[in-house]
Formats: sequence, structure tokens, C-alpha cells
Amino acid sequence: MKKNFTYALIFLLLCAVYSSSFAADEGLPLPLKSYHKRNTSVTEKWKEAGRGYFNPYEYKPPKVEGAGTDCLKCHKVLTPTVVKDWEDSKHFKKDVGCTNCHNDHSNLIMPTPDTCGKCHAARTMQHRGGKHGVGWKNVIAAGGKGGAAGRYLAQYSEMQEGGCGTCHSIETKCDSCHTRHAFKPKEAREPDACGTCHMGPDHAQIEYYESSKHGVIFKVEGKGFEDGGRAPTCVTCHMSGGNHDVSQGISIGGASQGKFIGQTNSGNSQRKNPNGISMNEITGEDFTRERDKMLRVCINCHSKRFAEHKLSIADGVKIASDAVAGEAIKEIVDLYNSGLLNPMPDDRPENPFAGFNLVLTSHQLYEQTSGIEALYFEMYKFDLVHAWKGAYHFSPDWTHWFGNAPMKLKLARIKDMANQLRRLNKLELKLNVKPEKVEFGE
Ligand code: HEC
Ligand code: HEC
Ligand code: HEC
Ligand code: HEC
Ligand code: HEC
Ligand code: HEC
Ligand code: HEC
Ligand code: HEC
Repeated sequence: MKKNFTYALIFLLLCAVYSSSFAADEGLPLPLKSYHKRNTSVTEKWKEAGRGYFNPYEYKPPKVEGAGTDCLKCHKVLTPTVVKDWEDSKHFKKDVGCTNCHNDHSNLIMPTPDTCGKCHAARTMQHRGGKHGVGWKNVIAAGGKGGAAGRYLAQYSEMQEGGCGTCHSIETKCDSCHTRHAFKPKEAREPDACGTCHMGPDHAQIEYYESSKHGVIFKVEGKGFEDGGRAPTCVTCHMSGGNHDVSQGISIGGASQGKFIGQTNSGNSQRKNPNGISMNEITGEDFTRERDKMLRVCINCHSKRFAEHKLSIADGVKIASDAVAGEAIKEIVDLYNSGLLNPMPDDRPENPFAGFNLVLTSHQLYEQTSGIEALYFEMYKFDLVHAWKGAYHFSPDWTHWFGNAPMKLKLARIKDMANQLRRLNKLELKLNVKPEKVEFGE
């Protein structure tokens, strides 16, 4: 009898351990069994707060009952460094408190540019006038099938936030160059404040700058033009006089693939340039107006002729490099028309922007694609832009050895791959062999 009771007890205990281990599993980041699904989260934890921290327009507050309005009572203990940073800021001195930016717990918000704009209207308007002001729209309202950019929709939620949103939230958050809760202008003037986002294989501005004479002088002196130094910083050339519209002075050397001079101004919309690359179109007048603005910055320190000459080098690199990438586009379009890409777009998971059509540049995916398109992606997205973006920032090595050289080496490999695909196809036809397709599932 006693024995049975002991067994029953052990059984119950085991049940309890078993079920509690189930409870503990909930929300754990357990391994995935196959390639991730698109546009949906892979952990439960992420869903709790969702996009609210990088897109405060979609913020969902936590439930904190009966908090009232004495923020410091709890937050001096809960988040002491937040309170200290705020106490060291101008906001504290001018009586701008927690509730001015967050409301209270019954209606808690994370501040958007509209919140800051109540007191900083001019800076907010400037910010919105340039490309920083459309940084998030260009991702989620790009006009693809799910309303958004192809490469964004092809990802899972955690990557969409950590690998797109954290940079592109420049539109929805003013604490991108400024950091909370200190909000020190000196910190925002540092090139490193731009560097978190303006780095890497497709826009390495911080690296171009650091390897230019300007960057070297900044490093040696530890201060830029605004703080009495000899060297211009990112802010000297792009936010002259503190103007928060970073598109001032940008002509054909703009964000992403830059722009081309045509008959009309396409604004923020994309057109195909004569080489088949998607980018913004501007007019000759736009070019001259913006170039003049940039030259006004240079002539603080250089002769106008010197500055014009150096910028014309970068213009030359831009238009010549676009034409090199155009040669690769011709090869790939020809293979597509002959049905020779492996796999063809309709034999692989669809491009969320353009369905099963061939997409080169702009919304081209870097995953679940053919080998030759993958190589082209690296060529146009990385090498091509290093050549001219490096040149606009006066870094000779990025212009040549990280830009021009790998771009042209890839053109050689693309032409060779295209040639092999055509030859293989001839053989297969002759031998009446069915071609083997690369498979991706899904
Ligand atoms: C009774 C204590 C209490 C008071 C008073 C209080 N808070 Fe909180 N607050 C909390 C708790 C608890 C959290 C959740 C902390 C966590 O998850 O680490 C929190 C979180 C926050 C967060 C972060 C929310 C998030 O999503 O990360 C903000 C912002 C905040 N409080 C602002 C305020 C403001 C503004 C006031 C004054 C109007 C205030 N709090 C007053 C307890 C309090
Ligand atoms: C000038 C505006 C401003 C003021 C004043 C301000 N905050 Fe914030 N706070 C922000 C911004 C901006 C964020 C980041 C929002 C986001 O991530 O979308 C933030 C985020 C937070 C967070 C969550 C993020 C984290 O790092 O944990 C807490 C907690 C917080 N604030 C507490 C406070 C408290 C407490 C006060 C008052 C002592 C305060 N804030 C005053 C602007 C402000
Ligand atoms: C309720 C009004 C108010 C709100 C809301 C507000 N600020 Fe301010 N801010 C001020 C005032 C006042 C000053 C001090 C201006 C001065 O002394 O010239 C200031 C100063 C600043 C400064 C300069 C600080 C310095 O050390 O010189 C920055 C940067 C700044 N705010 C950014 C922000 C950002 C970003 C937000 C939103 C997250 C924001 N502010 C929200 C009122 C506000
Ligand atoms: C691209 C980086 C960047 C972003 C994004 C940014 N700021 Fe600034 N901000 C700066 C820099 C740099 C300065 C210092 C300018 C100077 O001193 O020449 C500054 C200075 C300020 C100042 C101090 C006083 C002044 O007017 O110069 C305020 C206020 C301010 N910013 C508000 C905002 C607001 C509001 C937003 C969001 C709409 C914002 N900032 C977004 C870089 C940025
Ligand atoms: C000496 C001036 C100067 C400095 C310093 C400078 N830039 Fe630029 N930047 C330019 C010029 C010139 C262009 C191309 C303008 C055009 O389109 O005619 C440009 C273009 C850009 C672009 C558009 C894409 C591209 O690279 O062409 C970005 C983004 C950019 N700069 C960011 C930065 C960042 C971030 C820093 C600091 C790490 C920086 N710049 C430093 C002059 C400068
Ligand atoms: C949080 C990330 C982030 C930070 C920090 C940041 N930027 Fe940007 N910047 C972006 C994004 C994203 C774009 C492209 C937006 C678009 O075109 O949709 C961009 C575009 C630009 C452009 C191109 C403008 C054009 O018209 O083509 C310039 C110039 C620029 N940024 C300068 C700066 C400077 C200078 C700083 C630092 C003071 C800075 N950015 C800080 C994310 C950032
Ligand atoms: C490290 C920061 C960072 C990450 C991560 C990032 N971007 Fe960007 N993105 C930028 C910057 C900075 C620019 C513009 C500067 C340049 O091209 O020289 C830009 C440009 C763009 C543009 C061109 C906008 C225009 O005006 O033509 C699009 C679209 C874009 N990014 C989408 C995405 C998507 C989608 C993801 C994620 C799959 C992503 N980006 C990830 C920083 C980032
Ligand atoms: C705040 C002053 C300042 C501004 C503004 C400035 N530069 Fe410079 N720049 C310098 C200094 C100082 C040097 C180092 C000269 C040397 O190498 O002896 C330099 C070097 C250069 C160099 C490399 C050296 C060479 O002889 O080829 C180029 C190219 C250049 N600048 C172009 C520009 C252009 C174009 C602009 C405007 C978009 C510009 N700079 C804006 C101060 C400035």
C-alpha cells in the first residue's frame, strides 16, 4: 500500500517535471527544421514588442499598473543610467521631462519625430526633406506585392528589424545620430555617429572617409571643421550649418545606385538608366544646382577649380562603372530570354516584389537565385558602388582595388559563365539530355 503510494507520488512528480519542462519550452528559441518562412517571426519573444522599438509609430506599451506621474520614483531604481543621462542633458536644464517625450504609463509612447517636432519644428522639417526622411518608406512602401521592398519581404521578422529596420528607422527615430537620453550635438557631429549605418559592402562611407586625407587629418587632430579643426567631417559636407536635410548637395552620387541625368526629375521614384540599372532620374539643372551647393562647402578650404576637378573624377567613375555593369545585364537578359538561367525565375520561390520575372538591380534577391545572378548581385551592389562612392569620398584604394578591379573581374567571370551555359545547352540539345535544375523547395 505504502509502496503504491510512493510510486504514485513519483509518477505525479514526473508528470509535474514533464509538464513544467513543456512550459519552459514555450518561447525558447528552438532550432528550425527548415529554411525560414518569409515575412514572419521565428521566435515568440520578438512578437511581444514587435516593431515598436524601431518604428515607434507602431509601439505597444507594457502593462504597468498604477504608475502615476512620479516617473523618477521608480525609474531612479529601475533604469538609473537613463535618469542620469537625462539629468546631464540640456532637456533637464530646460524642464523637458520624461512625460514630454513618453506621456505616462496609462498612454505610454516612444517618441517619434512628431514628438520631437513639437519643440524642434525646423530640424524635423529639414530631416523629412531629405532621404533620411523616406528611409523607412523606401523599405515598406516600395510598392512590391506585400507593399514593401523585395529583399525585405524575403526575410523573417527578426532579420527585417535587426538587418533592415535598425538602419532604416532613421525616418522614424530622431535618436539615430543623437543618442538618448544625453542628446549631445557634439556626439552627433562625430563621423562615427554616421558610421553604424554608413558602412559595409554596399555603402562604406565611413571607411572611404577614414582612408581619405580628410579622415586622416580628423583622426590626428581629433576635431572637425565645426569644432575648429582643419578637416571636413560628414556633417561639414552633408549637414552644413546644422541643416538636417542630408540630400543638400547630392547630384548623381546619391543613395543606393545614385542617379542619372535625363529629361525629368523622378523624385524618390526609380527609373532604369540607359544601362538598365534602377535609380532616381534628375535633370541637368538639378545637377548644376546641387553641385554648386557642394562646391560652396569645398571652397572654405580649396580653390574652386581644384574641387570641381576632383569631383569630376568621381562623376567619370560613376558613369563609366554603370556602363560596365550594363554589359553584364545584357548577358543575363540574353540567357533569360533563351531560358538558360538555372533555375529560371519561375522555377524558384517568387520574388516578393516582381513575381516570377527576372529582376536585376533594385529588388533583386541575393538568395534562392541562379549562380550567375548571384555573381551579378555582388558586382552591382558592392563593387560598382565602391568605385564611385569611394571616388566621391576621395579614397583611391576603394575606388580602384575594392571597386573598379573586382567589378571588371566579375564581368569576365559572368561572360565566361554565360558562355559555358550556352555551350552546355547546345550539348544537351544534341544529346537529347534533359537539363538538371537547381532546386530550392518552398
Ligand atoms: C510604479 C513604478 C513606475 C513608475 C512610477 C513609472 N514607471 Fe515606467 N516602468 C515601470 C516598469 C516596471 C517598467 C518595465 C521595466 C522593464 O521591463 O524593464 C517601466 C517601463 C517604462 C518604459 C519603457 C517601456 C518599454 O517598452 O521598454 C518607459 C519609457 C517608462 N517606463 C516611462 C515612464 C514614465 C514617462 C513615467 C512617468 C510618467 C514612468 N515610467 C513611471 C515602472 C514605473
Ligand atoms: C527628449 C525626449 C526624451 C526624454 C525627455 C526622455 N526620453 Fe526616454 N526615450 C527617448 C527616446 C527617443 C527613446 C527611444 C525610443 C525608441 O527606441 O523608439 C527613449 C526610450 C526610453 C526607454 C526604453 C529604452 C531603453 O533604452 O531601455 C526608457 C526606459 C526611457 N526612455 C525612460 C525615460 C525616463 C525614465 C525619462 C525621464 C527621466 C525619459 N525616458 C525621458 C526620449 C526621451
Ligand atoms: C517639450 C519640448 C521638447 C521636446 C519634446 C524635445 N525637446 Fe529637445 N530641446 C528642448 C529645449 C527647450 C532644448 C534646449 C534648447 C536650447 O537651450 O537652446 C532642447 C535641446 C535639444 C538638443 C540640443 C542639446 C544640447 O546639448 O545642446 C537636442 C539634440 C535635442 N533637443 C533633441 C531632441 C530630440 C531628438 C527630441 C525627441 C526625441 C527632443 N529634443 C524633444 C525641447 C524639447
Ligand atoms: C543624420 C544625423 C542626425 C539625425 C538623424 C538627427 N540629427 Fe539633430 N543634429 C545632428 C547634428 C550633427 C547636430 C549638430 C549640428 C551642429 O552643431 O552643427 C544636431 C543638432 C540638433 C539639435 C541642436 C540644436 C540645433 O538646432 O542645431 C536639435 C534640437 C536636433 N538636432 C534635433 C533633431 C531632431 C528633432 C531630429 C529628428 C527629426 C534629429 N535632430 C535627427 C545630427 C542628426
Ligand atoms: C569633403 C566632403 C565630404 C565628406 C567629408 C563626406 N562626404 Fe559624403 N559625399 C560627398 C560628395 C561630394 C558626395 C556625392 C555628391 C554628388 O552626388 O554630387 C557624397 C555622397 C554621399 C552619400 C551618397 C552615396 C555616395 O556615397 O555617393 C552618402 C550616403 C554620404 N556621402 C555619406 C557620408 C558620410 C556618412 C560621411 C562621413 C563618414 C561622408 N559622406 C563624408 C562629400 C563628402
Ligand atoms: C540609423 C542609420 C543612419 C545613420 C546613423 C545615418 N544615416 Fe544617412 N542614411 C541612412 C539611410 C537608411 C539612408 C538611405 C535612405 C533612403 O534613401 O531611403 C541614408 C542616406 C544618406 C545620404 C544620401 C542622401 C541622398 O540624397 O542620396 C546622406 C548624404 C547621408 N545619409 C548622410 C548621413 C550623415 C552625414 C550621417 C551622420 C551625421 C548619417 N547619414 C547618419 C541611414 C543612416
Ligand atoms: C547598415 C545599415 C543598413 C542596413 C542593415 C540596411 N540598409 Fe538599406 N540603406 C542603408 C543606407 C545607409 C542607404 C543609403 C546610402 C547609400 O546607398 O550610399 C541604404 C539604401 C537603401 C535603399 C535605397 C533607397 C533609395 O533612396 O534609393 C533601399 C530600398 C534599402 N536600403 C533597403 C534595405 C533593405 C530592404 C534592407 C534589409 C533587407 C536594408 N536596406 C538594410 C543602410 C542600411
Ligand atoms: C574644412 C576644410 C576642407 C573642406 C571643407 C574640404 N577639404 Fe579637401 N582637404 C582639406 C585638407 C586640409 C586637405 C589635405 C591637403 C593635403 O593633402 O595636403 C584636403 C585634401 C583633399 C583631397 C586630397 C588631397 C589632394 O591634393 O588630392 C581632395 C581630393 C579634396 N580635399 C577634395 C575636397 C572636395 C572636393 C571638397 C568639397 C566636397 C573638400 N575637399 C572639402 C580640407 C578641406
